[in-house]
Amino acid sequence: MKNAGAIRQAAESIKRGGIVAFPTETVYGLGADAFNPLAVARIFEVKKRPYFDPLIVHVSSPSDLERLVTEIPKNAKKLIDRFWPGPLTVVLSKSEEVPDIVTAGLPTVALRMPRHTMALSLIELAGCPIAAPSANLFGSLSPTTAEAVREQLGDQIDFILDGGPCEVGVESSIVSFLERRPSLLRPGGVTLEEIESIIGPVEISSNEESRPSAPGMLPRHYAPRTPIILNWSMKNLDFYKGEKIGLLAFRKPNKSLKFDHTEVLSKKGDLREAAANLFGAIRRLDALNLDLILAETVPEIGLGRVIMDRLRRASGRISQS
Ligand code: TXA
Ligand code: MG
Repeated sequence: MKNAGAIRQAAESIKRGGIVAFPTETVYGLGADAFNPLAVARIFEVKKRPYFDPLIVHVSSPSDLERLVTEIPKNAKKLIDRFWPGPLTVVLSKSEEVPDIVTAGLPTVALRMPRHTMALSLIELAGCPIAAPSANLFGSLSPTTAEAVREQLGDQIDFILDGGPCEVGVESSIVSFLERRPSLLRPGGVTLEEIESIIGPVEISSNEESRPSAPGMLPRHYAPRTPIILNWSMKNLDFYKGEKIGLLAFRKPNKSLKFDHTEVLSKKGDLREAAANLFGAIRRLDALNLDLILAETVPEIGLGRVIMDRLRRASGRISQS
């Protein structure tokens, strides 16, 4: 298999307690052996992530859950059967074996089986579940290329596995099964519509609630550095006269519009393609030293819901980890 040598090296590093960036179909993760609290602690240090924000544990097979959780509710099982491997994370009651640092002291653990072949081989070769947040500094956008990981964390981590650009481009959906009714803590790569088609109605947690504790303590310097504005209109563009403006367009814009730079998420207005391009487009705009980024809104259905959620976060109105 291509990249076999690199995957083996990365797996060796995880076994020795190292931290490794690796591709998944959603975004790049920064992983460590989930059973090694010291290695996991380094992830928090390098990301500058507060210890109250728990990590997702990545497995290479649904059978890995036996060691990690106390039980699997029927609806969780249905979603796992349907969407694993894939961009769906389930929050279940944790077993004693899962170290507290992974779950930020919560009695629950978030779990996901990614579908990127490199991620799956890495977990298998390392021989342990891999605890991994997105491979960005806390508060920044999740990286969707190895290059974006290198820019932010390059010299501080033990290995970067390059698997090319991420296919989905936004993080996994997170569904919790701790309450009477399943609840969606974070919209993501598996749409709400797809989830509800399998298990019926789910509660939608507000974004602040999805943070297990102390959301008010989060810093306000969320990247991108360039302010992103969502509520603007073509009619009022004069308001921004004299400013260097980038446009984050959903589909191909009208040629007569004059912006300093334009990024198009999907020429044909396809939400899946737009999601895959979202973080890369924001990152490129952010590198141009613009005064402002005006972002177009997208329809809030399917992956459009996820795109709008991430745009609101990027515009500083909701926090992100
Ligand atoms: O697609 C993804 O999910 C990516 C890739 C690398 O798998 N990972 C990712 O991880 O986005 P991270 O750490 O950036 O976001 C995980 C989110 C955090 O908001 C965290 O608060 C939440 O999952 N989370 C983790 N464990 C939880 C738990 N036990 N209960 C509730 N929320 C939890
Ligand atoms: Mg993150």
